[in-house]
Amino acid sequence: MTILQIETPDNPVLRKKARPVKVFDTDLQILIDDMIETMRDANGVGLAGPQINQSLRLAVVETLPEYDEEGIEIEGSRELLVLVNPEIAWESRKIADGIEGCLSIPGWVGEVARHETIRVRALDRNGKKFRLRLKDWTARIVQHEIDHLNGILFIDRLTDPEKFWREDEFAAEQEEGTEEDIPIA
Ligand code: NI
Repeated sequence: MTILQIETPDNPVLRKKARPVKVFDTDLQILIDDMIETMRDANGVGLAGPQINQSLRLAVVETLPEYDEEGIEIEGSRELLVLVNPEIAWESRKIADGIEGCLSIPGWVGEVARHETIRVRALDRNGKKFRLRLKDWTARIVQHEIDHLNGILFIDRLTDPEKFWREDEFAAEQEEGTEEDIPIA
């Protein structure tokens, strides 16, 4: 597998509306595996096609692990989602503010309002249709990824232009004991 280069906003591909995936061939399987590898290598929780210079409606998302009482990662608790041509079929009226960052805007985080719950229609990596109902954290990341497929970045959606920080400054200002892992996608 190959670690791919992650594009930053100087590449206009991040601002383009990506094309639907139509062919589910070996090349697509390799690309998806490379995206998973690249996301993990970058300590990200999501990665969309345009971020690796492929203007395709394709994203991978990996949920955070759960831990047992001793703080050890529960095996199999991470869930990997491969979303091909995803569409939001429904979104809750309820909105939640949360902090997120983007692998394409390294070193920065900001507050973004997202629908708390969404229903998504997508194809899996073999072109088979499926539906998902997602809440909270996972719903946030999938909305971030679908934005990428439409040329939208989280900096376009800040709740307030002031609520945008250097990642290390934000971490330093968190009260001890309340630090949360900020999802970078
Ligand atoms: Ni991103």
